[in-house]
This record gives sequence, C-alpha cells and structure tokens, in this order.
Amino acid sequence: MSQEPKSVDNKPVIIELQAGKHAWCACGQSSNHPFCDGSHSGSGIAPVVFEVEAAKKVALCACKKTAGAPFCDGSHS
Ligand code: FES
Repeated sequence: MSQEPKSVDNKPVIIELQAGKHAWCACGQSSNHPFCDGSHSGSGIAPVVFEVEAAKKVALCACKKTAGAPFCDGSHS
C-alpha cells in the first residue's frame, strides 16, 4: 500500500539543471529535495527519473500534486 506523498512547499522549486538524468523526489521525504535520496524506501512511492538534453532552468513540483511530474503544472495554487 502506498503512502500519500508529503507536500514540501506550496510553490515549485526553480532550479538550473545540468544535462543528464535526474531523479525527482515524489514522496516529499528526501533530505535533498527536490531530488530523491532514497528516503522513499518502504513507502510504495518511487522517484521520477527524467532527463534533460541540455542545461536549463525548470520548475520542479514541491506540492506533489502535479499531474505532470516532475514539473510544476500549477496545481499548488
Ligand atoms: S526520497 Fe522521495 S522519492 Fe525517493
């Protein structure tokens, strides 16, 4: 059984990502939020691994209600 994700903030994390793969924390328990640090273990929730082609600024969801994970879709408002 999955636990509910924990909302970390009521606004997205605006961050400059380097090119390559990233693992977005879906559970809200990571000490390295918005990235997965393995704290989801046992929660039934898994991180969302995604890749960016080139370095760019993104808005990563922190409320954990987005339908477009890992990106903010405005669901926090
Ligand atoms: S620590 Fe949250 S998904 Fe891994």
